[in-house]
Amino acid sequence: MIETFKSAYDHARENALHFNNAGFAPWSASTLKAVTEWALKLSSAQPQNVSLAFDETERVRGKLARFIGTKPEQIAFFQTCAAAISQVALGFPFKTGDEIVVWDQEYPSNFHPWRVAAERSGAKVVVAKSDANLATPFESLKKAVTAKTKVIAVSWVQFRSGAQTDLKQLAALGKANGIFTCVDVIQGVGAIPFNFETSGLDAVCGGAHKWLASPLSVGFLALKKDHLELLKPIMVGAMSYGGPDIPSGLDVPLKTGIQKFEPGGRSLLELVAFGATLDLFEQTGISEIANEAERLSNKLASGLREQNYIVHSPHGERIKGAILNFTPSDNSPLKTMAEVEASLLAKKVSFSKRPPGIRLSPHAFILDSEVETVLKALSKS
Ligand SMILES: Cc1ncc(COP(=O)(O)O)c(C=O)c1O
Repeated sequence: MIETFKSAYDHARENALHFNNAGFAPWSASTLKAVTEWALKLSSAQPQNVSLAFDETERVRGKLARFIGTKPEQIAFFQTCAAAISQVALGFPFKTGDEIVVWDQEYPSNFHPWRVAAERSGAKVVVAKSDANLATPFESLKKAVTAKTKVIAVSWVQFRSGAQTDLKQLAALGKANGIFTCVDVIQGVGAIPFNFETSGLDAVCGGAHKWLASPLSVGFLALKKDHLELLKPIMVGAMSYGGPDIPSGLDVPLKTGIQKFEPGGRSLLELVAFGATLDLFEQTGISEIANEAERLSNKLASGLREQNYIVHSPHGERIKGAILNFTPSDNSPLKTMAEVEASLLAKKVSFSKRPPGIRLSPHAFILDSEVETVLKALSKS
């Protein structure tokens, strides 16, 4: 099955070796086909086609719900993950003195919404300290929690290091202390199995363009049903109040379901494309995808270590997940970051510079031969 998954990305190998899936990933052949077919239909601006596309996005909501273990009524779509996080942060009823706990290595989109929410309400952001090699041990998070903590807002998987926060312990801590847990899952969902219902978390925010290998401009929020009333919508429009056919009026009520957070038209092409990717991921199976991505990451890490590169692993010897960060050393064949970058670029390897080094993030569609090409590019010979 994994071979079929890999072959769905063969067309994308011509232009690059895709080792930046924690940044953005290529689209599968079926994803590309969906965009192309729907672009043709929508370009004629026929109302029935727009309506069909809207119906299709509702099916995509259902597919995503199935993929992350929740119900469609608990998923709202946004245009970015940052927008979904902002909805939770700025829609949350914070009061002066409340505290919000985040990690010190959070991606800015999972920091600034909380910071602004604190600035507007008189709450305070408390920053939990990571360990050496950017590990995120649960004890450090726990230490940052006080009787004033209202929200813990962390990434499941950290974007630079791949460090993982233990979600089971997080949900238990939240439940025991009445703390709302909001997790940015963008660097996990699509690369690691995840189930919202059994996670016990209050809210998760994600996006489709990284490990879910779909176009940019799809963000999502999954929210526990009990919390629908807790959050105030931060953006409103026709769609949050029922639709374009309902005349404007002061007595028109806000929707009561999760779609009250969706103010207007949707990213139709991006959403239908996302649906096609979700079909492929479901056919392949997330466990198989996760195992393969982790195997490839470990193959890469071993090859780098053999060549005396420093792998900055928060997990120790064995990489968990599919993000790794490395730097050259005095004993590696290439000795400077500039040399490493030039060598990877010469072989058309996509990567990201993320402190402390270079981030490589192979998805399950990467071939062993592509890992070998990367290692060879770094071997000098
Ligand atoms: C943890 C995390 N959250 C969010 C994002 C992206 O957010 P957005 O899609 O809103 O730009 C990234 C992208 O690198 C990320 O690593």
